[in-house]
Amino acid sequence: MIDNSFHIITFGCQMNVHDSQWLARALEARGFCEAPLEEARVVVVNTCSVREKPEQKVMSTLGRIRQVTHDSPRVLVAVTGCVAQQLGEKLFSRQVRLVAGSDGISGAPQAIERLLDEPALRLSLLDFTSHYVEREPGADVPAPPVGFVNIMQGCDNFCAYCIVPYTRGRQKSRLTPAILDECRHLLDRGAREITLLGQNVNAFGRDRSGDGTSFAALLEKVAALPGLERLRYVTPHPKDMGPEDVAAFANIPQLCPRLHLPLQAGSDAVLRRMGRKYDSARYLELVASLRAARPDMALSTDLIVGFPGETEDDFAATLELMRASDFMSSFSFCYSDRPGTRASRFLDKIAPDVQQDRLLRLQALQEELSQRWLDARVGRECVVLLESASRRDAAEGALQSWQGRDSHGALVHVPLPAGDHTGRLVAARITEAKKHSLLAEALGPSW
Ligand code: SAH
Ligand code: SF4
Ligand code: F3S
Repeated sequence: MIDNSFHIITFGCQMNVHDSQWLARALEARGFCEAPLEEARVVVVNTCSVREKPEQKVMSTLGRIRQVTHDSPRVLVAVTGCVAQQLGEKLFSRQVRLVAGSDGISGAPQAIERLLDEPALRLSLLDFTSHYVEREPGADVPAPPVGFVNIMQGCDNFCAYCIVPYTRGRQKSRLTPAILDECRHLLDRGAREITLLGQNVNAFGRDRSGDGTSFAALLEKVAALPGLERLRYVTPHPKDMGPEDVAAFANIPQLCPRLHLPLQAGSDAVLRRMGRKYDSARYLELVASLRAARPDMALSTDLIVGFPGETEDDFAATLELMRASDFMSSFSFCYSDRPGTRASRFLDKIAPDVQQDRLLRLQALQEELSQRWLDARVGRECVVLLESASRRDAAEGALQSWQGRDSHGALVHVPLPAGDHTGRLVAARITEAKKHSLLAEALGPSW
């Protein structure tokens, strides 16, 4: 075991991935180094509770850690994130001596140092804060080409099925100057693209912590930062997406023509019981206005099948809306009961085999839509932001395959001459559509 070494295991959404990345940099700034699980002195499990037996997943991960580390009390295990917020001190064990919830994670680096000094101590950081808590900056290492910046914490929507407002707390917007500072810092260290993160980004600023800047105004400010080539955000909510947010796609050239716009269901009755506060007509209107603002807009979405009371006709409405919206991709899930949510108390639950059958049918339709979208890209020109060498086999001759994303967020592989192309934007022509990615040839003077 290496002293002052850490290993982080992450479940869940982009916000959790980002929290883990921040924690890694914060620990590095305190002299820790990343190590494989077998060698780590500190193991962090950053958890998600949004669907399906998340507690079991955490327990089995803790079991694996015990096994790999021979249950050594010298190994300090911290459980952070949404399951930590939910289960709190119930998670304490010989090894688990820190539980830190969604807001508490900002105090995890100090807590970890203290726990290593005091082997008999246990700490829990479970309080929600009233305002967005700024975090320590972390090690000053080069930034990857694609960076992520939190603009808010929590969610106030209480969709009937969702545990996030309970695990992440109320919505708290971050102050605009702090967001811009973090963006600038990433750009100074080499980032070319930034994704703004939040559970309901269009509602940015509309809470006690807001500083009067609207989401559309924030987009303008971030886009104006020198060095920013591309801007994206996740997750918008159809009910809060106003005309100025739509217009941003026409007016801000850096804003990429891709939006992940969660639909959840196509039936108005189901949307009403989910508490989503929009109906299918409003969603389609939004899709049309987005495509009017950016004709090349690519849309993706989240979908839930088998919500309590969902009939076959309701489900058919979801398939219909998927076709009408022409999603390039989607994440789809069977409805799963979450403790404390309104839907968990609904009585008309759908049998698991019916849910599963609907999920498979929905995913078959998505495969068809995704393939059609990818096929239609063949022959087109695009710009790829290169992130790393591809894992796929090297291309012919002296060329090596590199991977990155086009402005629509599609994964593109491009053969390039040997060298480090990380962070370069390369013009390319799409030559072939694979199942989940595109192949392209580089255009441009040197190739
Ligand atoms: N804030 C985002 C994402 C929330 S969680 C939004 O509003 O869309 C990510 C996705 O998980 C949701 O969009 C939803 O599709 C899914 N999800 C959330 N709770 C769920 C549950 N109880 N059962 C199944 N899927 C769920
Ligand atoms: Fe959950 Fe709804 Fe908030 Fe998204 S908007 S995090 S689905 S409560
Ligand atoms: Fe999961 Fe929490 Fe994100 S429940 S989806 S990690 S906000």
